[in-house]
Amino acid sequence: MKKNILITGGAGFIGSHVVALFVKKYPDYHIINLDALTYAGNLENLKEIENASNYTFEKVDILDEAELTRVFHTHQVTDVIHLAAESHVDRSITDPLAFVRTNVIGTVNLLNAAKTYWKEYEKHLFYHVSTDEVYGSLDDGGFFLETTSYDPQSPYSASKASSDHFVRAYNNTYKLRIVISNCSNNYGPNQFPEKLIPLCINNIKNNKPLPVYGKGENIRDWLYVVDHARAIDVVFHSGKNGETYNIGGFNEWKNIDIVRVLCEVMDKKLGREKGESEKLITFVKDRAGHDHRYAIDASKIQKELDWEPSLQFEEGIEKTVDWYLGNETWLENVTSGNYQKYYEEHYE
Ligand code: NAD
Ligand code: DAU
Repeated sequence: MKKNILITGGAGFIGSHVVALFVKKYPDYHIINLDALTYAGNLENLKEIENASNYTFEKVDILDEAELTRVFHTHQVTDVIHLAAESHVDRSITDPLAFVRTNVIGTVNLLNAAKTYWKEYEKHLFYHVSTDEVYGSLDDGGFFLETTSYDPQSPYSASKASSDHFVRAYNNTYKLRIVISNCSNNYGPNQFPEKLIPLCINNIKNNKPLPVYGKGENIRDWLYVVDHARAIDVVFHSGKNGETYNIGGFNEWKNIDIVRVLCEVMDKKLGREKGESEKLITFVKDRAGHDHRYAIDASKIQKELDWEPSLQFEEGIEKTVDWYLGNETWLENVTSGNYQKYYEEHYE
């Protein structure tokens, strides 16, 4: 069936992989990428598909209600996959309101635009892409299930939890068809080097300190971004109305171990002596309210929608490092401008 799918945040890290997958895999769908191009949005991420006949870009802020209405009418939007967000926990600690604006108010604006434009709700879908951080922090045992109570701990996760609640409220109150997925930490090409993995790759390359918060004992569950995009495809097409699907990599790592793996891989790639990059590891002040552990139980999506990760972590990390080393101009472009200012204010 012909669809006109509005993907928000499509110039960002995960969004760019979702847009590329949908544009290439579904030539009958028209993909409208709506993105405000904040510091995290980058049209270079979409070079591969920018001239495709089933692709359109709209530079729009989800806080602009009139523009959202125009986009729905102009492109006769049939479905929404919503990824646009402020996504970095550290930035949410210094500027929580920016996260309330985009993640909460922006999401409600988008829900309102869909609710007003669509007439027969059963023919349309509003898909909200969310995070496992809404469930809070785990001790060393247990996993997040879809039934785990929300317990967000950072301004970022509180804003994402709030937006999830609004999406469910529109399902309950107005009967808008919705699905939500909550995913663990992603890594891979196009990720802005403020997040742990690309930040370390960039710093190792430039012989700069690798800032590890606290003792590096915090645990995250890592998933290769293309596997997340594959999961979003499956949830979009086969997810059930009103349901939540957890997405994860079954792949838990302590931060310090991840950083060591990156050092080892980079030593090999850069022809450095084994152990050289590890000397850059620097333990720094911990993140305020730092969540100890995230771990997803992804058996629901595995059993009900037949999705599982396709890449082993070692392979994913190798691909990621190769991508950053092979895309120097991308890295230089995104680390020019305000990046240095952010970096200095945050770390020095
Ligand atoms: P990102 O920061 O790389 O990209 C966000 C995109 O949204 C950027 O292109 C930015 O320009 C755009 N954007 C920001 N504010 C906007 C606004 N007001 N209007 C329009 N566009 C705006 O983020 P990401 O890491 O790709 O995350 C995408 C989504 O997935 C987010 O909703 C995030 O909460 C969620 N998520 C991320 C991860 C992860 O590990 N990165 C894991 C689970 C869920
Ligand atoms: O779990 C999903 C979430 O994963 C997403 O919803 C977020 O959008 C995404 O940013 C990510 O959040 P994290 O805070 O887990 O990711 P980040 O890469 O910022 O940090 C990963 C871990 O590494 C975390 O425990 C903090 C630590 N860290 C991070 C940075 C940037 C460091 O030790 N040093 C650093 O410099």
